[in-house]
Amino acid sequence: MSFLNIFYHPAWVVSTVVLALVVRLQRRAHWDPKSCSVRLTGKTAVVTGANTGIGKFIALDFARRGARVILACRSEARGTAALNEIRQISGNPDVHLRLLDVSSMDSVREFAKRFLEEEKALHILVNNAAVSGLPREITKDGFEASYATNHLGPFLLTNLLLDLMKQSAPARIVTVSSTNHHRGQVDFSHFHGENLVHFMDNVYNNTKLHNIICTNELARRLSNTGVTANSVHPGVVKTEVMRHYSLWLRCIFNTVGFFFFKSPEEGAVSPIYCAVSEELEGVTGKYFDSDCSLVLPAPLARDAALAVKDFEFCERLTSKL
Ligand SMILES: NC(=O)c1ccc[n+]([C@@H]2O[C@H](COP(=O)([O-])OP(=O)(O)OC[C@H]3O[C@@H](n4cnc5c(N)ncnc54)[C@H](OP(=O)(O)O)[C@@H]3O)[C@@H](O)[C@H]2O)c1
Ligand SMILES: *[C@@H]1O[C@H](CO)[C@@H](O)[C@H](O)[C@H]1NC(C)=O
Repeated sequence: MSFLNIFYHPAWVVSTVVLALVVRLQRRAHWDPKSCSVRLTGKTAVVTGANTGIGKFIALDFARRGARVILACRSEARGTAALNEIRQISGNPDVHLRLLDVSSMDSVREFAKRFLEEEKALHILVNNAAVSGLPREITKDGFEASYATNHLGPFLLTNLLLDLMKQSAPARIVTVSSTNHHRGQVDFSHFHGENLVHFMDNVYNNTKLHNIICTNELARRLSNTGVTANSVHPGVVKTEVMRHYSLWLRCIFNTVGFFFFKSPEEGAVSPIYCAVSEELEGVTGKYFDSDCSLVLPAPLARDAALAVKDFEFCERLTSKL
């Protein structure tokens, strides 16, 4: 009898399905976007990386609520496809595509410049775009590519749009981080690709930690401005997030994911919660889990002195570019 026969055993199949159901029931959020009646008519929202995965469903939700939605994507073709889909499903024509490559500080500045020229307000900014498993690479700005994409680009973008958000208050900044930040480390030489090991999502984990650290410091700086900044873990979600991994790892991810992981639509729930829910009005500097519960982030993400240092470091890195 071959070892693989176990996978065809009815007991194995039944127990797997039962376990998958249990996991599905347990992760039910206490908040459901479908029963949240908040309207976003007259509000403007930006979602980065909105052409696929979690970002697309965040943007679709905002469009359904009547917002003016800007999809900030790096690919014209992929962005246009998502734009048409979101307009069609939501019936909201006020959805637009603007090109943005968050890994390039030039592109971030160009996007922000045009945005400030064209738009009168910004009420919701969701920093969603990110990469995982990128091989070692240094951008033309001299930054390690994952650090540029996942942290420095969104950091600069947020800072460039901040004045408009303050004028538009109440406004919310939502940073899509990850529970992986628990394994992250802070080392300022990493930003330039030094002393960095590209193994087991190490780089991704670090960037997701910087997301929370700087969002918390931003929240502190924004106190009493009417602009809030929170971080959120969307859950483990079946998206294209594994695209830079080997075929083997992708197969495992997709097979396990078929039973146990969230759909992109489900993954969008906790970021949408942070962006629109009435109960989070005025709540800032917090980290939310994938079931929309308020949880503590890792100890490093609660170190206020480190946060000041990290924020100032990232400001220096992005200011001249
Ligand atoms: N999936 C999970 O299990 C999981 C778990 C925890 C946290 N997250 C977080 O959830 C967020 C969304 O991820 P996802 O799972 O939806 O991944 P995804 O399917 O890979 O989507 C990522 C999005 O980001 C965009 N993007 C990547 N690099 C970019 C760049 N340089 N400039 C502009 N856009 C860029 C992608 O655009 P292209 O299509 O053009 O590449 C895509 O739209 C990320 O912040 C991720 O870290 C995901
Ligand atoms: C990154 O985080 C994941 C999830 O917590 C973990 O499995 C992995 O080992 C971490 N990588 C490192 C290098 O710590």
